[in-house]
Amino acid sequence: MQKRVFLHTTVLALTAFFGANSVAQDNKFKIGLILPMTGQQATTGRQIEAAARLYMAQNGDSVAGKKIELIVKDDTSIPDVTKRLAQELVVNDKVNVLAGFGITPSALATAPIATQSKTPEVVMAAATSSITQASPYIVRTSFTLPQAAVGMADWAPKNGIKKVVTLVSDYGPGLDAEKYFKDRFLFNGGQVPESLRVPMRNPDFAPFLQKVRDLKPDALFVFVPSGAGAAVMKQFLERGMDKAGIRLIGTGDVTDDDQLNDMGDGALGVVTSHHYSAAHPSPVNKKFVEAFEKANKGLRPNFMAVGGYDGMRVIYEALKATKGQGGGDALLAAMKGQIFESPRGPMFIDAQTRDVVQNIYLRKVEKQNGQLYNVEFDVIKDVKDPGKNK
Ligand code: PHB
Repeated sequence: MQKRVFLHTTVLALTAFFGANSVAQDNKFKIGLILPMTGQQATTGRQIEAAARLYMAQNGDSVAGKKIELIVKDDTSIPDVTKRLAQELVVNDKVNVLAGFGITPSALATAPIATQSKTPEVVMAAATSSITQASPYIVRTSFTLPQAAVGMADWAPKNGIKKVVTLVSDYGPGLDAEKYFKDRFLFNGGQVPESLRVPMRNPDFAPFLQKVRDLKPDALFVFVPSGAGAAVMKQFLERGMDKAGIRLIGTGDVTDDDQLNDMGDGALGVVTSHHYSAAHPSPVNKKFVEAFEKANKGLRPNFMAVGGYDGMRVIYEALKATKGQGGGDALLAAMKGQIFESPRGPMFIDAQTRDVVQNIYLRKVEKQNGQLYNVEFDVIKDVKDPGKNK
């Protein structure tokens, strides 16, 4: 009798335990945020994690009856590690969404997992055009290099720059930047006597810059991933390239807001084209920058932070639209076509391509209140990724 009562109680207790647990599970909405928190791309991880946490602090961690849980994993920007982490997050943690992805190879390595498990993959940083074609479950909130590069290729020839040498990191986004800048610049009547590619990991720019000096172009067009811009700027100035009459131009990755203020006055006057500047003069952005700096000991948000912040917005709104019921397919459908005002300006997620359509700004490094900023002076509105027009 005693034993029976004990057994009965145990079964009840177990039922209660698992019952409660599964309810807790059902009430949770898990976002697996895979980022480079250490290594060469660590600034990207730091910026995106800070932005995601800010979004949650401002919008609450309860959405449509679900408690949002952010699970941050460091992939050290090694794609094999990204893939293993994505697998673990889907299989063990049963995340509802995969997000982050500091570099293109990491986003691509995760694509098959997103497809097989029908889990939306929100790409907040990586920017090679083809990424969104690697899985129908990928949605992008960052930008694409073709999108940013063609703006510069249109601006430069109208501003006395006829001969340009390109210098890019030798992988996806660099090759996109090189191709789309060059094709458009040649079309506009410019000349590109040389296209240089530097290794993605631990590049030494010195021998390449020497070559550029010898070629004496009007400008050097640069793409390096976020975090590497300061090294380029330093060596460019140390070699007196500016004094030799060579201008530095590029996509805004090179005058990254995370590093710009430490680059010194040598950076003044550098013109780049990009989708985000911390100096973007809108009330929404002013509020964002202020809140971000306040929450992060004065750290200035860069374009990676904005990709993370808007990525969280896209996820939150998809969860709301599906009334907390969304499986992968429903969430994905609710992410497509979202249109809103971001700190970068207006943006929308093209339902056809799942890629971001946004303004591209021309900006010049100037001093505002004693600090260096990318100050916007022109805008090309609602730019679709030119890489999708093929
Ligand atoms: C990328 O790997 O896709 C990437 C990384 C950093 C950037 C842009 C693109 O600034």
